[in-house]
Amino acid sequence: MKYAFFDAKPYDKPSFEKYGREQGVEFKFFETKLTRDTAMLAEGCDGVCVFVNDTVDAETIDKLFSLGVRAVALRCAGYNNVDVKHAYGKLHIFHVPAYSPYAVAEHAIALLLTSIRRIHKAYIRTKDFNFSLSGLTGFDLHGKTVGVIGTGRIGRVFIDICRGFGMKVLAYDKYPSENSGIDYVSLDTLFEKSDIISLHCPLTEETHHLINENALSRMKKGVTLINTSRGALIDAEALLAGIKSRHIGAACLDVYEEEADIFFEDFSGHIVNDDILARLISMPNVIVTSHQAFLTEEALSNIAETTVMNIKKFAEKGYCDNELCYRCGKTESCKAKRQKCF
Ligand code: NAI
Repeated sequence: MKYAFFDAKPYDKPSFEKYGREQGVEFKFFETKLTRDTAMLAEGCDGVCVFVNDTVDAETIDKLFSLGVRAVALRCAGYNNVDVKHAYGKLHIFHVPAYSPYAVAEHAIALLLTSIRRIHKAYIRTKDFNFSLSGLTGFDLHGKTVGVIGTGRIGRVFIDICRGFGMKVLAYDKYPSENSGIDYVSLDTLFEKSDIISLHCPLTEETHHLINENALSRMKKGVTLINTSRGALIDAEALLAGIKSRHIGAACLDVYEEEADIFFEDFSGHIVNDDILARLISMPNVIVTSHQAFLTEEALSNIAETTVMNIKKFAEKGYCDNELCYRCGKTESCKAKRQKCF
C-alpha cells in the first residue's frame, strides 16, 4: 500500500509515519498541493492522501486514474474540494468523518473569547509594558443569544459549551435533529435574534455564500460572526462592507473563501495580493487564524489512525465504511446493500 501524501507539513508526518508503519502503509510525502499539474507525482502509488486545499476536480481525477491510482484518502472531514460525482466508477474516496469535534468547537470558543474580551489587544499591550485598559471593554457571554448554523458533531459540542456559559442557544439545520432539546428556528429568526452567530454546516452549492449581503443586513447591529467551517460560506466582500459600515461588530475567521493559495504558508515579508483578506486582517475587530481549528494532538492522532485504517480496509476488502459515494444516500446505500460502491 503506497500513497502519495500531498500538502505535507512537519506536524503531519510523525503520526502518519507511526500508524502507516504499524499497518503496512507507505507514504511518499510531497509539500506541494495536489492539482492537475502535480498529479503525476502519484505515479506508481495505489492512492493519494489529501487535505482541505488540495484540488480533486474532474481533470485531476482523470489524470490520477490514468496513472493507475484508485483511491483518494482525505485526511479531513469536509470534501467540498472533491468532485465526488466525477470520481464515481474511477476513484474510491474516503474521509475522516470525525476526529475531534472538540478541537474545532473549542477553537471557535477561543476565537470568540479572544475577540469579545480583546485578549489579542491586551497580549500585545502588556508585552510592551502598556497596562492601560482603554478600549478593552468587552461584554458578558452570559445571557447572550448565540445562533448556531449546523448542529452536527461540531455544532453540538459548540452548543454544549455555550450552554455552560449561560447563553441562550438558537439553531438552524437543514435536517433538524428530533428530540435533541435544541431550539430550532428559521434562518431569518436566527439572523434577527442572535448576538453571536457560529457556522458549523458543510460547504455545498446550497450553503455557498449563505452569509451574503442580504443575510448580513438582517443580523442584529453589532453581531459577532464566527466561521470555523469553510470560507465560502461567507461572501468575504459583503462581510468587509458590513464591518466597514459598523453593522457587524466582530468577525472570527478560521477559514477564508480564497484561502487555498495562502493559508498554511508563511507569507511574512511578502506582499499578500488578496486585498479583501488584507483589509479584513487590518480591522481591529477581525481575528483570522489560518484553518487551525483542527490542530490538536488528539485530532492529529485520530486523523492519522482513521486515514490509515480506511486505506487498509479498502486494500483488504475493496470497500471502506468511510467511503464517500455519489450514489450512497441519493438512491439507496450501496455500502449497506453490497458493501462495494463500485
Ligand atoms: P456534520 O456532518 O456532523 O454536521 C454538519 C451539520 O450541518 C449536519 O447537522 C447537517 O444536517 C447540517 N447541514 C447540512 N446542510 C445544511 C444546510 N444547507 N444548512 C444548515 N445546516 C446544514 O459535520 P461536522 O463534523 O460537525 O463538521 C462541520 C463542518 O466543519 C465540516 O463540514 C467542515 O467544513 C468544518 N470543519 C472545519 C475544520 C477546521 O479545522 N476549521 C475541521 C473539521 C471540520
